[in-house]
Amino acid sequence: MKIITVVGARPQFIKAAVVSRAFNQHKNINELIIHTGQHYDQNMSDIFFEEMSIPKPNFYLKVGGKTHGSMTGQMLEKIEEVLLQEKPHLVLVYGDTNSTISGALAAAKLHIPVAHVEAGLRSFNMSMPEEINRILTDKISNVLFCPSETSKNNLLLEGTNTKKIEVVGDVMYDAVIYYLRKAVPSNNIKSLISKNYFLATIHRAENTDNEINLSNIFEALREISKLENIILPLHPRTKKFIDTYNIDTQGITLIEPVGYYDMLLLLNNSNGVFTDSGGLQKEAYFLSKPCITLRGETEWTETVDSGCNFICGTDKHKIIASYEKNKTINFDFTKNLYGNGDAGVLIAEKILNSYS
Ligand code: UD1
Ligand code: UDP
Repeated sequence: MKIITVVGARPQFIKAAVVSRAFNQHKNINELIIHTGQHYDQNMSDIFFEEMSIPKPNFYLKVGGKTHGSMTGQMLEKIEEVLLQEKPHLVLVYGDTNSTISGALAAAKLHIPVAHVEAGLRSFNMSMPEEINRILTDKISNVLFCPSETSKNNLLLEGTNTKKIEVVGDVMYDAVIYYLRKAVPSNNIKSLISKNYFLATIHRAENTDNEINLSNIFEALREISKLENIILPLHPRTKKFIDTYNIDTQGITLIEPVGYYDMLLLLNNSNGVFTDSGGLQKEAYFLSKPCITLRGETEWTETVDSGCNFICGTDKHKIIASYEKNKTINFDFTKNLYGNGDAGVLIAEKILNSYS
């Protein structure tokens, strides 16, 4: 059977690496990859394909660095062209980015079945572009691969046909287990990982594009950096807004975005995490690190219920108080919140059984 996978943003390369490897175990699956070009810098894209041995994309659409409408529209048009030419049995999309909704919509309109990995996640905050993307993608998908029972329940509450839903666990758990064993530090991080530090990432639009929110976050981090080193691989979006708003980052170690190996090692050697990333909240849990989330809510509610993730939004006092509190807690990371690390294998098997 022929599958077309649509990816475009950093976390999708990591997720696709897991599932592509599982597809490779099946002779009768022929996977073609469309890279929309949403992320395009070497350290936001190519490095993941190289390190994680992801098959080279068969189609590169070069649609990046644009507004939402323009990006989504151009992707839709270009993905449709590929689908008309290749006539796949199934289109596979990941997560909640503009590449996700474009891939799903192009396929659904051509009546090509769509499978959505990371289905059913909800923040219940419709001002997030990701929430729009994921709800619409779920609505038009034929197979919904959920990472958890919570995500399955979200879909059921929206009236989704239960036959479409498969709880398989989180492919990012598979990724952590598999790639941490392979990871060796690059020269860029060798001297960093021997120190004591918290790791931070910030890229969410509601934080970067809002001067007050971004300033609050950096005020809190600057304050904490007087007590603890903070290493922050800087997303290009955030870099742009730090310059625009002239934000003071003194005391915080800013580095370029890193590849997945370096990221896993930076995380594994850290004391904990400050982040507004979806993926990193879970990776922190998988590697037994407390997480201080710089958002007002999360889709990954199990990490909060387990007591290992503090939801702080951009409230400076809450961020600092959570950092202080984390030092006093004995965290319990023993529960398997997101499956058994075999989500990729389960996804490949289900697709093969249903569509060939
Ligand atoms: C996108 C996703 C977000 C995901 C994130 C992962 C949407 C709506 N958002 O957000 O859900 O969490 O990716 O990182 O799809 N840029 C570069 N080089 C790059 C990539 C981006 O310079 O390689 C800059 C450009 O100025 C671009 C900006 O970053 O305009 C934002 O990129 P974009 O892909 O639109 O959104 P992200 O914030 O990365
Ligand atoms: N990541 C990475 N290098 C970095 C920052 C993040 O490899 O410099 C990884 C991170 O470990 C996680 C994924 O990228 O696996 C998360 O992507 P991001 O935070 O950009 O997006 P989100 O998960 O919020 O959609």
